[in-house]
Amino acid sequence: MNIGIGVIGVGVMGADHVNTISTAISGAEVRAVFDIDPSRAARVASSVPGAKPLSSAQSLIEEFEVDALLIASNDATHAQYVLSAIAAGKPVLCEKPLAPTVAECEKILCAEQMAGLRMVQVGFMRRFDPGYVEMQRRLVSGIIGRPMLAHCSHRNADVPSGWTSEMTVLGSAVHEIDVMPWLFGKKVIGVNWMAPSSAITAKFRDPQVLVLELEAGALVICELFVKCGYGYEIRCEIVGEKGTIELAPLASVRVRSDFKMQTDFASDWRGRFAEAYRRELQSWVNGVIRWRSSKEQTEFGPVNGPDAWDGYCGAVVSEAVLRSMAYSGRMGVAFQPLPELYRKCRDALAYA
Ligand SMILES: NC(=O)c1ccc[n+]([C@@H]2O[C@H](COP(=O)([O-])OP(=O)(O)OC[C@H]3O[C@@H](n4cnc5c(N)ncnc54)[C@H](O)[C@@H]3O)[C@@H](O)[C@H]2O)c1
Repeated sequence: MNIGIGVIGVGVMGADHVNTISTAISGAEVRAVFDIDPSRAARVASSVPGAKPLSSAQSLIEEFEVDALLIASNDATHAQYVLSAIAAGKPVLCEKPLAPTVAECEKILCAEQMAGLRMVQVGFMRRFDPGYVEMQRRLVSGIIGRPMLAHCSHRNADVPSGWTSEMTVLGSAVHEIDVMPWLFGKKVIGVNWMAPSSAITAKFRDPQVLVLELEAGALVICELFVKCGYGYEIRCEIVGEKGTIELAPLASVRVRSDFKMQTDFASDWRGRFAEAYRRELQSWVNGVIRWRSSKEQTEFGPVNGPDAWDGYCGAVVSEAVLRSMAYSGRMGVAFQPLPELYRKCRDALAYA
């Protein structure tokens, strides 16, 4: 029998996840949705046979038919819903960022420690993207020797009005902040934020440049340009001692006509990362099913991907970036010691 998913927040991402679960994921079905905007909840629920809109987040979390929760509401609401899900004993997949502040992430880690198992997976979907996964495999194979440097570009065609420089860090750069240490197998130990002078006149700083210093002296240089105008594009090249590995362009066709050769860009992240979202959701559902059917309810829990510790690490580095932005200088990054529970889970499941 399928597990029942309840979705909180059905805007762009939530509605996309509901559609993916309903059309491309085995072992799960969406049974309830909640959104602060009831008309949106009703519209999305009506698109899925058997799904109902509920009138509050708490009623959805407690709903008997809901076995696991997917949180895709605005960033500022994540922590409260994740904490309620842990209190109800239900596994949760929370969109990134786990929470906008380190303090909120620490509360979530503490709640998991009290519950005695990992309940929270975080939507850092690039770890499921076939391109990034293949990059990691090639890196580990040693084909380019020791990786020393990475060049990343994260470009959006446009962002909504009211966007801020901080949102570029918390909403966009957090993907590079998560995936680059994962690729290199090294923690971030320092950050430096900069922006070209031509960006000063804009309402917010765009583009921005972020340098992440990793353990063992590796450097990651990220360009974040969220109003680039031409489309959604993610680039990444890793430079090693003996060669480089680069994400290949994803366009499936190239058109030659009228003295031009053209390929299309995705308009936003949903097209570019569709397969990553599908794999992320299937992995999470598989983890929940395995956990529910296992006789021994161990502390390893239902998580089958980036966990609350990864969400916490993203928040620690993001806060250091925001300090670098405010004070125009390099900032060190300090993580709390890895709690024993996480060390045990990591060692046993080899997620790290
Ligand atoms: N993983 C990714 O690639 C990716 C991409 C985009 C967005 N996101 C994240 O997904 C989340 C949603 O982003 P989005 O682009 O869909 O935004 P959105 O604004 O389109 O949707 C957010 C939805 O949450 C609802 N909402 C607001 N406050 C709420 C509350 N208190 N309770 C319940 N619902 C509430 C809104 O009405 C809206 O429908 C954000 O956390 C964002 O950072 C992740």
